[in-house]
Amino acid sequence: MRKKLMMGNWKMNTCLKEAVELASGIKRLLKEDVFEKVSVAICPPFVYLLDVKDVLEGSDIKLGAQDAFYEASGAFTGGISAGMLKDVGCDYAIIGHSERRHIMGETDEIINKKLRACLKEGLTPVLCVGELLNQRESGQTGSVITSQVRNGLKGFSADDIRRMVVAYEPVWAIGTGKTATQAQAQEVHNMIRGLISGIAGPAVAGEMLILYGGSVKPENIKELMSAPDIDGALVGGASLKADSFEKIVKYY
Ligand code: 13P
Repeated sequence: MRKKLMMGNWKMNTCLKEAVELASGIKRLLKEDVFEKVSVAICPPFVYLLDVKDVLEGSDIKLGAQDAFYEASGAFTGGISAGMLKDVGCDYAIIGHSERRHIMGETDEIINKKLRACLKEGLTPVLCVGELLNQRESGQTGSVITSQVRNGLKGFSADDIRRMVVAYEPVWAIGTGKTATQAQAQEVHNMIRGLISGIAGPAVAGEMLILYGGSVKPENIKELMSAPDIDGALVGGASLKADSFEKIVKYY
């Protein structure tokens, strides 16, 4: 049985005071019994990681970053390495989010290198994949997801892949209020699990957490989580309010 993982991706939101308040609010609302049922992580902007880490002291809520650069150190102005993230207490790093693919121009090749850097430093990377609206409408969802998964995971062993999480985030559902239906999400999640099985074997595929992201809200979480291949959520907007994130985490 896979334990569900609920992650809050704060994106480029909050100021320092708001970040500390939001993390404090989430910590206050999520008590021990919650963590027997679900794992929880929050991903604030880089500059607030240390302050949020301090707030999370004594809680089972994990810390994640929204990206990690693939080089370890050196002349890479503005870069933040996976080792630096580990050093400040991160357990997770979101890699290949659609906003980074489509706004910052990240390729599968870059994403592949970032995944490798995360594993090397002991961070759990969350590989994000997802199709654009026109790709879905023209029947390309399967081929887009297949190539993002295959190219992202190129060169990794089954043991490497076992240490990753995948998130399916249909780009048309992100920040639009338009959630994928349970059936639409389940179909793609099942396909991703099949791909993982082909690449890394059925045992790794059976353990793999595949999260759904895209307009997840307290109102739709329960239905999404009842699908057999949906193992948690990567939540944007609704993770910016402690009470709505609490409701999502406590979907059960
Ligand atoms: P929203 O929940 O705001 O649609 O964002 C989803 C997302 O991109 C999480 O990574």
